[in-house]
Amino acid sequence: MLRALLEAHTPPEAGSTSLPAAQEAQLPYKPQSVGQARRLVREALTAWGLGHLIDTAALVTSELVTNAAKTGCQLLMTVTVERIAKATVRVSVRDGSRALPVLIQASDDDEGHRGLSLVHRLTGGRWGVTVEPLGKVVHADIAR
Ligand SMILES: Nc1ncnc2c1ncn2[C@@H]1O[C@H](COP(=O)(O)OP(=O)(O)OP(=O)(O)O)[C@@H](O)[C@H]1O
Ligand SMILES: [Mg+2]
Repeated sequence: MLRALLEAHTPPEAGSTSLPAAQEAQLPYKPQSVGQARRLVREALTAWGLGHLIDTAALVTSELVTNAAKTGCQLLMTVTVERIAKATVRVSVRDGSRALPVLIQASDDDEGHRGLSLVHRLTGGRWGVTVEPLGKVVHADIAR
C-alpha cells in the first residue's frame, strides 16, 4: 500500500551537481506520515551526497508534515524534496487547506506554536507559502 503511494523520481545523475533532482510522495493526513516523509528526505539526501543536511531537513520536514496533518484534509498531501542548488535542498508540503501558516513568536514557557519558529530559525528565514486554487504549498530551503 505504502509502495503504491510513493511516486519517486530518481535524479538522473544522483550525487552529481546537475539538476533537476526531485523525489515526491503522496501521503495521508495522519501523524504516521511524518516518519514516511522523513525517510523520503533522508534517502534523497543520502543519494545526493548531502548527508550533512539530513538532521536539519528531517526536523523541518517533521514540522511541515505535522502542520499539514493537523488540517484534517481528505485525500493525500504531497511531500517533495528537491535539490535546488549544489548544497541546498527544498522540502515542500502541499495540502488541501487554504488556511495559511502563521509564524507565532513562542515564549519560553509556551507549549505550542514552536514548529514554524523552528523552521524559520533552521532555514534562516528561507521558507514561504504559495497559495493554490485548491490549497497551498509550504516550502523550506535547507543549506549548510
Ligand atoms: N499547513 C498549515 N495549514 C494551515 N494552517 C497552518 C499550517 N501550518 C501552520 N499553520 C497555522 O500556523 C500556526 C503556527 O504553526 P506552528 O507549527 O508554529 O505551531 P503549532 O502547529 O500550532 O504548534 P507546534 O508546531 O508547536 O505543535 C498553527 O497554529 C496554524 O494555525
Ligand atoms: Mg506545528
